[in-house]
Amino acid sequence: MGELSVNHLLGIKYITKEDVDLIFKTADHFKEVINRPIKKVPSLRDITIANLFFENSTRTRLSFELAEKRLSADVVNFSAASSSVKKGETLIDTVNNILSMKVDMVVMRHPNPGAGVFLSQHVNASIVNAGDGAHEHPTQALLDSYSIREKLGEVTGKNVVIVGDILHSRVALSNIFALKLQGANVKVCGPKTLIPKHIEKLGVEVETNLRKALEWCDVANMLRVQNERMDISYFPSTREYVQQFGLNKDLLGSLNKEITIMHPGPINRGVEITSDVADSDHAIILDQVQNGVAVRMAVIYLLASKIKQ
Ligand code: NCD
Repeated sequence: MGELSVNHLLGIKYITKEDVDLIFKTADHFKEVINRPIKKVPSLRDITIANLFFENSTRTRLSFELAEKRLSADVVNFSAASSSVKKGETLIDTVNNILSMKVDMVVMRHPNPGAGVFLSQHVNASIVNAGDGAHEHPTQALLDSYSIREKLGEVTGKNVVIVGDILHSRVALSNIFALKLQGANVKVCGPKTLIPKHIEKLGVEVETNLRKALEWCDVANMLRVQNERMDISYFPSTREYVQQFGLNKDLLGSLNKEITIMHPGPINRGVEITSDVADSDHAIILDQVQNGVAVRMAVIYLLASKIKQ
């Protein structure tokens, strides 16, 4: 088996198409493992991983922890709410204290963009970015592409629209990088105020009409409005947002084609997507969650094999 071109997973921006292919091939193997009655392999018995979450998370934290445990790594968890960060400790001091307990890898979610890159330059451990503010969320983009590949056979050449709050979404940016890397066609769709200026420079098109975007796409990735990252109002009201950018069964049924619906979670049912769509056969939302464990196992396994060298 090959090896990754990087020692850390800080963003999709820093990896290659070959890295993505290797991660997917490795994830295929782990997906088979986690569907066995004994869902565990002893691969990382000698590795200790710290999950450092400075920002709220449910599925990403659980998914990483499960991935680590299914590889038999030792795992320690840390969440900012109950830590000395609240007492004024710096990020480097916090992490170095943890590393001095012989930790090999750090999985970190942090509200500041670039926190993972910063840490990788100052501490001696392999860093996995589990979301840095509104910047990148590389494992989410990998599991999203992996799920498209599983559902549609390949990512190359597929039409994917990312709908919603593109401006504040790390899922959007990482997905754009990942999809472009694999040769998909990408559009973004949402209120103009939630689409970054000059986003076309990333090789994506902007479409402000949801119906047109859906008519064009094979896959629609519906994103949550990131209210927690907004200091002002970016659209008049939730009701208007729902009218223009919410996906419901009638709209889906009125298209002259079948499309695949994705969502990274957490869902705001009735806002970006109605319950009947989220729970329909078109949606692969729970497959995404399941694939997340296999993809994260692959990332951790491949990074750990570089530490061991
Ligand atoms: C996303 C995140 O945290 O960036 N969720 C996730 O990781 N599953 C998306 C979101 O919060 O809307």
